Amino acid sequence: MRRPLVAGNWKMHGTRASVAELIEGLTRQAFADDVDVVVFPTLLHLTQAVAALDGSVVAVGAQNCAAQAEQGALTGEVAAQQLVDAGVRYVLIGHSERRSLLAESDALLVRKFAVARDAGLVPVLCVGETLAEREAGQTFAVVKAQVAAVIDALGVDAFVGGVIAYEPVWAIGTGLTATPEQAQAVHAAIREQLAVCSAQVAQQARILYGGSVKAASAAELFGMPDIDGGLVGGASLNADEFGAICRAAGN
Ligand code: PGA
Repeated sequence: MRRPLVAGNWKMHGTRASVAELIEGLTRQAFADDVDVVVFPTLLHLTQAVAALDGSVVAVGAQNCAAQAEQGALTGEVAAQQLVDAGVRYVLIGHSERRSLLAESDALLVRKFAVARDAGLVPVLCVGETLAEREAGQTFAVVKAQVAAVIDALGVDAFVGGVIAYEPVWAIGTGLTATPEQAQAVHAAIREQLAVCSAQVAQQARILYGGSVKAASAAELFGMPDIDGGLVGGASLNADEFGAICRAAGN
């Protein structure tokens, strides 16, 4: 049985005051014992979040890390090792906003994925198709290629303890959610892709759905057999809404 995971991606939102308020709201939530919860503040607010969530069930993740393993001369970047040192446990790799707006390639993301794993972070590989790709019938091919980039370079064992987040680009921040059936079909295909290499890895890997997840839609999505939780953007900025989404992931 896979343990559900609900992740809150705060993107480029927040001030010290609003982050403090949001965390205060999170510490008032009743979280189920059988669900892992993690929030991804901006780099600037990571240490604040780690300190304020110390002793709570909510872990902290970063939205990005450098592709270079060692700390050193790389202006503006943060190394995975430095994130670990700061108490960070997860890292998002390849969110569609970084793939499209910052031109992050599969090759770069594979390096980040490897560096994050080696440092002891849990990498969350984000994959998903655009609307044009879905309408052209390319959904499965696009997603499989994004997952294959990691498997081909690092081997399927790279996903031991790792997480994949399927986020159709057309559903991110648009209010459009994939239907549970649409999401399940892609999740099952990803798991099948892993299973071709290793049944054990496929069985263990957690595959999250992301794209306009709300408390109202969460239970139905999380009820699908291959959906192991969610990566939540907008709704994670509201502690009560996010708490309700986390509770919907409980078994
Ligand atoms: P959304 O964002 O929930 O606001 O659609 C999800 C994400 O980008 O991770």
